[in-house]
Amino acid sequence: MPRIAYVNGAYVRHSEAAVHVEDRGYQFADGVYEVCEVRHGFIVDLRRHLDRLDRSLTELRMDWPMSRAALIHVIREVLRRNRVRNGLFYLQVTRGVARRDHVFPAEGTPPSVVVTAKRTDAAGIARKNAEGISAITVLENRWDRVDIKSVGLLPNVLARQKAKELGAQEAIFVDADRMVKEGAATNVWIVDGEGTLRTRPAEHGILRGITRTTLMDVAKPLGLKIEERAFSVDEMMAAREVFITAATSICFPVVSIDGKTIGNGHPGSIAQNIREAFFDVAEKTPI
Ligand code: PDD
Repeated sequence: MPRIAYVNGAYVRHSEAAVHVEDRGYQFADGVYEVCEVRHGFIVDLRRHLDRLDRSLTELRMDWPMSRAALIHVIREVLRRNRVRNGLFYLQVTRGVARRDHVFPAEGTPPSVVVTAKRTDAAGIARKNAEGISAITVLENRWDRVDIKSVGLLPNVLARQKAKELGAQEAIFVDADRMVKEGAATNVWIVDGEGTLRTRPAEHGILRGITRTTLMDVAKPLGLKIEERAFSVDEMMAAREVFITAATSICFPVVSIDGKTIGNGHPGSIAQNIREAFFDVAEKTPI
């Protein structure tokens, strides 16, 4: 069965799916995206992902490519055509195709929209959860609007590549004051000595992760205390547990950072409890 992608109004073979050479996403990274998990035939937290898409589009003064209902229809259709019941979809909207010029194209230029889907590597995820992952810290070098989920991800790409070359799976951005920002494609959490969960406030300097938001709803019934407060690299290194969250991974335990062991060097129970409770609490939309 061939993989199918949705590109600007048509469902096409993934191997032949293409956008125009003068698409502004391609030339200027002038676009936004969402990645959303699909589990057991349900889309996880779709409403929150589309609300964030709306915010990203508004911040960049871009139009929706179609109505919200129509976009949900396309997402479902792509998932169905690819028979994805456990995996994710990727959705990208750009400012459309126009002769290359930095200023916005003429009023009425239609945005480009692409939706793809893929199955997840369940064994790889299970292994990371069981063993934990390693991370490195890197100096923050991104623009200050990382609250917008823009496709301009070059610093994130370079950071992840550096992590890979050093044998780690995630790179954690750290500011000049050695305060922790977020991962290259994840939010970062710590569990302090008292068992309190801490994560950086999302008002400024990080992406407001959807998994991060839902995790707050998951933590409360588990009796966990959450503090939205910035923390330093030293606090992170001394934490009982460190974990990272994203729609692609829910929450992966981090057992080593910059070559130093975190906690007892094994995945912690709090990250595990959260992961196990997550799907029950998250909003589920049938495909
Ligand atoms: N990344 N911070 C950054 C910089 C991210 O790119 C992401 C997600 C997150 C977590 O957000 P959420 O919980 O909504 O997935 C935080 C996606 C998965 C990606 O780029 O593939």
